Amino acid sequence: MTTVLPTPAAWPRPLLGEALPADPTDLDAAVRGGAFAGLARAISDLGATLTTATLAESGLRGRGGAGFPAAEKWRAVAASPDATRYAVANGYEADPAGGTSHHLMLARPYAIVEGLAIAAIAVGADEAIIAVRAEYADAIAVLEQAVAAAREAGYLGDNVLDSGHALRMTVRGVQGAYMLGEETVLLKALEGRRGQPEQRPPYPSERGLWGRPTLVHNVVTLAAVPWIVVHGADAYRAIGDPDAPGTVLVAVSGAVATPGIAEVPTGTPLETIIALAGGVADGRPLKAILVGGPSGGLLPADLAATPYAFGALRAAGAHVGSGSIVVADDRTCIVDLARLLTRYCADEACGKTIPCRIGLRRAAEIGERIAAGLARPTDRGLLADLGADIVESALCDHERLATGPLTTAMRYFGPEIDAHILRGVCPAGVCAPIGVAAAGTANGG
Ligand SMILES: Cc1cc2nc3c(=O)[nH]c(=O)nc-3n(C[C@H](O)[C@H](O)[C@H](O)COP(=O)(O)O)c2cc1C
Ligand code: SF4
Repeated sequence: MTTVLPTPAAWPRPLLGEALPADPTDLDAAVRGGAFAGLARAISDLGATLTTATLAESGLRGRGGAGFPAAEKWRAVAASPDATRYAVANGYEADPAGGTSHHLMLARPYAIVEGLAIAAIAVGADEAIIAVRAEYADAIAVLEQAVAAAREAGYLGDNVLDSGHALRMTVRGVQGAYMLGEETVLLKALEGRRGQPEQRPPYPSERGLWGRPTLVHNVVTLAAVPWIVVHGADAYRAIGDPDAPGTVLVAVSGAVATPGIAEVPTGTPLETIIALAGGVADGRPLKAILVGGPSGGLLPADLAATPYAFGALRAAGAHVGSGSIVVADDRTCIVDLARLLTRYCADEACGKTIPCRIGLRRAAEIGERIAAGLARPTDRGLLADLGADIVESALCDHERLATGPLTTAMRYFGPEIDAHILRGVCPAGVCAPIGVAAAGTANGG
């Protein structure tokens, strides 16, 4: 299992809990620790409307990337005239530098099962699916055990906690590439169809699985729900950034002393999160922080105090994504890193939309020729224009975000890019075959 980074004792841990149980699938132990108290309260004390109102007051926003207010989705699904509705937990985890969903599915399966059950019942869905990346065979096994035990104990099934609500929950392994994490693609995969993103609206809350209204949430979002129902909206609102309260799971990797996962209040400065991972390894200087996965932003060291919050990250050119933070030290070449990320985003684009399919490829090629010492003097301007065009014509969020690495590289590391383009020099000495700058010459930042 992934390393869980120690956090200050005073920090609340609605997601991971105070202590992780020795056997996460042990239902009795989980119930002794409070599992399913939220489901009982949602059903017996609150009912669907008050449960949703509690969620709205808590300010919970989706942790799958876009940060959409969770209760708004619940209300949209519940308001549908279609009585057949579904609830889906997204445990695909597309980000190769992620790991937060995987960890949570292994460590707190009942929090996900319970959160999904509360959500499904609140929106009037009697069928719920936990969709998990097929490579996460361990998580699939743990969740299947948890779902079976919960069903056996009456928390799921034909008559949930004797309430008259029926809820069938299944775990499904899904296999595909990066785009499969996108909700419309995921839903098609669950239908057994090849998927490309669909134009939204209609959103899945109106027309989702099998054309029916479907609630889709990241597993981390769902795991926060039981805590909110038990402790109340005010307690949740009191944690972290007022604009998007609560905690997030972050996966810190790259050039840090101890890569791992941590639960942190939203709004925690990036530098504090990096310090949880032991800081930059070997005491080397911090050069850049990739926040938001392959389509994230490359933030320079002087923005390390940026709060890990939706608004602040967006303003800086990054995004929360699914919680990955990759640290680069002074040996990294920003051109090299940005071109690798852009190539990844271009290769993973599904090809449905021409500006994305062709535009990202061209952007990757420009990045590659800059790194190869074959840049044209106009390349920075060309990249800026191309980036703006790609974003403008976006069909899905991948295209909207995929130019993030290049855009932030140009915004924050201009001198390093110019050194490549105008002088044929890679200050970090990474890009071959072009030369290394003499000591003391230009660097980025
Ligand atoms: C390219 C791409 C990949 C995505 N991958 C994931 C993923 O792996 N897991 C996830 O929960 N959401 C992912 N999303 C976001 C989903 O489309 C959707 O917004 C999310 O599952 C909704 O959950 P939330 O309300 O809890 O944020 C991805 C989006 C895009 C555009
Ligand atoms: S924008 Fe890109 S990833 Fe999204 S549907 Fe179009 S080609 Fe596919």
